[in-house]
Amino acid sequence: MPSPVATAGDSHWTDLHQDAIVLALLLECADDFVAGGMLCDKLDVPRAELLKRIDSLRARGYVIHTRGGLGYRLVEIPDQLGEAQIAPLLASGELGRKIHHFEELESTNDEAHRLAEAGALHGEVVVADFQTRGRGRRGRSWVAPRGKAVTFSVVLRPAIAPVRAPEITIAAAVAAAEAAREMGAASARIKWPNDVECKGRKIAGLLTELRAEPDRVRHAVLGVGFNVSLQMRDFPEELRPVATSLLLESGERQPRPLVCARLLEHVEEWLSLHETEGFGPVADRWRELSSTLGRRVRITGADPIEGDAVDLAEDGALLVRTAPGALVRVLAGDVEHCTLL
Ligand code: BTN
Repeated sequence: MPSPVATAGDSHWTDLHQDAIVLALLLECADDFVAGGMLCDKLDVPRAELLKRIDSLRARGYVIHTRGGLGYRLVEIPDQLGEAQIAPLLASGELGRKIHHFEELESTNDEAHRLAEAGALHGEVVVADFQTRGRGRRGRSWVAPRGKAVTFSVVLRPAIAPVRAPEITIAAAVAAAEAAREMGAASARIKWPNDVECKGRKIAGLLTELRAEPDRVRHAVLGVGFNVSLQMRDFPEELRPVATSLLLESGERQPRPLVCARLLEHVEEWLSLHETEGFGPVADRWRELSSTLGRRVRITGADPIEGDAVDLAEDGALLVRTAPGALVRVLAGDVEHCTLL
C-alpha cells in the first residue's frame, strides 16, 4: 500500500497557517513589493517573526525578493503538489482540510474511496504526481505526464439522495470551467456533462463515483484531471487534435499547487451553493457555460441518437430533440458536437 509523502502535524499546521497569511498578502500584490511593516501589522507579530515566516516559505521553494525600504515580492511558487505547498494557497473551508499527497498511485479515485471507507471526512483530498491507472469516464483511461498536470480526488459526503448525484457532477463542471477561465483559459466551456474544453479541445475531465445505498449516499469521490503545463508534444499523438492545457491557452506557466487550490475553492463554492439553494443556480450557470446547448449533437454509446441539444433537465440529463415534438432525455453517453443550430 502506498504511503503519504507529506502529512501535517498540529504545530506544522500552525506554521502553515501563518505562512498562508503572508502568502495571501504577497499574492494579492503579485507584481508589487509589500511593505514589511504592513505584513507585521496584518500578522500582528514583530519583525523577527515575519523574517521566520519568510525564511520558512523560502525553505519550501517560494522565491521571495527583498528590497530595502520596499519590502517583499513573491516571484515564484514551488511546483510540488504536497500539502505544504497547496494548503498555504488555499482559501477554502472544508475542501482540502487534509491533503494526502502521493508521488505515484494507480488512481487517486481508488485511494479516496479507500480513505472514505476508513472514515475520511468530507473535503479530504488525495493528490498524486502520477497515476499508473488513472480512470476516465465510461471505462476509459486518463493519462497525464508526471509533473505537468493536476490529478486529485475529493471525498464528499453530500446529504442528498443517490438519484441526485448527477447534480454534483454538474456543479463540479461549473466550478472547473470557472477556475479555468479565471486562470487564463478564457474560452473554457462545458461539454455535457462535465468535460471542460476550450474551442473543442479538452483541458479538464471530471469523474464522480458514488458509494451508496438505495436511499443514502455513503460517500462520493470527485476526481479531477486538469492539464496544466503540457505542451502539444506532451500529449499522445491521437489526442493532439482534441486536447489542450492551461499553458497552451493562457501562454503562462501556472504553478500546479495554485491550480489545485483554485480548483478546490471553486468546487467548494459551487457545492455549497448547491447545498443552500438547490440545483437551480448551478443549472443556470452550466447553461451559460455550456458548449453543447444549441448544437446538433450525436450521442454515442448503448443507445446512439442524433438531434438538437436544447436544454439541461432538472436532474442533469441532456434534453435532445430528435424530431419535431420528440424530446429524448440523455442520462449517459458521449456527446459529439456537430454543427451550431
Ligand atoms: C474523463 O474526462 O473521462 C474523466 C477524467 C477524470 C480523471 C481524473 S484524474 C484524478 C482522478 N483519478 C482518476 O483515476 N480519475 C480522475
